[in-house]
Amino acid sequence: MQARDLKDKYISFFKSKNHSEIPSYPIVPENDRSALFISAGMHPLVPYLLGQPHPQGKRLVSIQECLRTGDIEETGDTTHHTWFEMLGNWSLGDYFKDESIALSYEFLTKILNIDPSLLHITCFEGNKDAPKDEVSQKAWLSLGIKKDHIHFLPKKDNWWGPAGTTGPCGPDTEIFVDVFPSLAQEDFVAGNLRGRYIEIWNNVFMQYNLDEKGNYQNLSQKNVDTGMGVERTITVLSGLTDNYQSTIWKPIIQKIEDQTSLPYKTNESSMRIIADHLRSAVFVLADEIEPSPKEAGYVLRRLIRRAIVQAKKLGLTKNFTSSLAQTIIDNKDNYAGDYPELERNHDFILKSLDDEENRFRVTLDKGLKEISRLIDKKQLTGLNAFNIYQSHGFPLEMIVEEAQKANHSLDKNFQKDFKNAKEGHIKLSQTAAKGKFAGGLAGDDPKILAYHTTTHLLHAALREILGDHVSQSGSNITKERLRFDFTHPQKLTDDEIKKIEDQVNKHISSSLPITQETMTYEESQKKGIISFFKDRYPQKVTAYFIGDPKNPISAELCMGPHVENTKDLGKFSIQKEESSSSGKRRLYALLS
Ligand code: SER
Repeated sequence: MQARDLKDKYISFFKSKNHSEIPSYPIVPENDRSALFISAGMHPLVPYLLGQPHPQGKRLVSIQECLRTGDIEETGDTTHHTWFEMLGNWSLGDYFKDESIALSYEFLTKILNIDPSLLHITCFEGNKDAPKDEVSQKAWLSLGIKKDHIHFLPKKDNWWGPAGTTGPCGPDTEIFVDVFPSLAQEDFVAGNLRGRYIEIWNNVFMQYNLDEKGNYQNLSQKNVDTGMGVERTITVLSGLTDNYQSTIWKPIIQKIEDQTSLPYKTNESSMRIIADHLRSAVFVLADEIEPSPKEAGYVLRRLIRRAIVQAKKLGLTKNFTSSLAQTIIDNKDNYAGDYPELERNHDFILKSLDDEENRFRVTLDKGLKEISRLIDKKQLTGLNAFNIYQSHGFPLEMIVEEAQKANHSLDKNFQKDFKNAKEGHIKLSQTAAKGKFAGGLAGDDPKILAYHTTTHLLHAALREILGDHVSQSGSNITKERLRFDFTHPQKLTDDEIKKIEDQVNKHISSSLPITQETMTYEESQKKGIISFFKDRYPQKVTAYFIGDPKNPISAELCMGPHVENTKDLGKFSIQKEESSSSGKRRLYALLS
């Protein structure tokens, strides 16, 4: 069966049962800072699961594109994908367990013609928060499922949600297909599920709301939220055990085989990663997200770069991502109609991939040079490897490979030092985000404070003179100078540089006070205060204002510290202007 047939059958079956079809929401949720990507069909429906009436009624059905970043590192085996399509049907306070289970059973056995004796079912075994789900068991038994095909499992297996830290959740019943029925019956244990018993559908009975105190409150209505993964179900229906051999992936894998002149059989893991990550990248790009150092754009960048790294391992050194993307988009049977944005943004998708691939190749070359320099000097320590990883985006496994190629044996602490440096770095940025980390500005050195405040003035002047597209992409301060990276498409003219200097000096000589105010992140956004790394901010943030706080020259979220008044900053001058990376400029400036 083709994905198209499965999707069409699902939608028309549930429409015939009075469900209204809702379109797939964009992969990056709008107005929702709790997640970078939609990861389940229920995600955009949370307000309706909590009781708000849905304009299309109480029974809904959809095909929702999902992206699970938690599966990035898992990709490479037979079942994991980052982007996938989830078929779902919902009851918003309408039918509950009995009808939901009956609908699933009818669809599986009458529409998909799955032999009922191949089905295995799991139900929630009960705990202090919710009782054993005997209602679901009874519903399955009444449909003819044998008792020994129904298994009770604990919360870690048979409970779903909330998607974040609070929200709708509940016990679920999961539907598995035995893909090796000719083997003797085995114990149905969790560890055995993956290989023999494949889960294809999950019916969640959302009747609780987990509140901030960790209590499960009854929701005002009992909901059903189901999810059926398209790629897995197609694999099972096709009698396969490797998702990547199904009709969904075949043309993509074939194209990679052509591009690399290598067979899938001996390169499965790399080819799966390339296929999966680039398909995800295509759909994220289709929603007009660009590769960037932040948030969804960063995940996109990681996906593209990880695919390129795998291709490099297979010996592919020429650009290949845009032509592979074309193959993915050409898979019209599967995606056309559901995702018109693929056609609409076709040129953008291909061009962005090419641009990112060019950028990454430069990065890889720089990293390679740095690695061989360190190998020559016998200095390829875990810490140095981390620095390369950090500054060039160079994957650890490739650093290790380079060392092996050069017959350089890594010291015994290499992996440990790398890991420690990485964890230390993560901790540092987390602490920084919490506002506790004083970092490079800790010394309270007057010169450092002066450069810090001047950085805010410079940022404001750049936006005033060049436009609001200017946004800080990096800042580095020493006692001797400031360095500032920002988004801007072209080189600054002498005239622009002069205007920026004049503007900063004007503000300095106006003796403007610097004040600060603590507020919630939401308030700061309402006030239009400049911020970066959106999702990294804690609930409470500090805004720094230069000038009258009601009508400031500059308003930025920042951890400080700053000088009290601009009057003692000195004379500002720009020393150097250069490109920092594509679409970004870098300035060096002095106070004298
Ligand atoms: N939310 C559940 C899942 O993701 C069912 O849709 O599996």
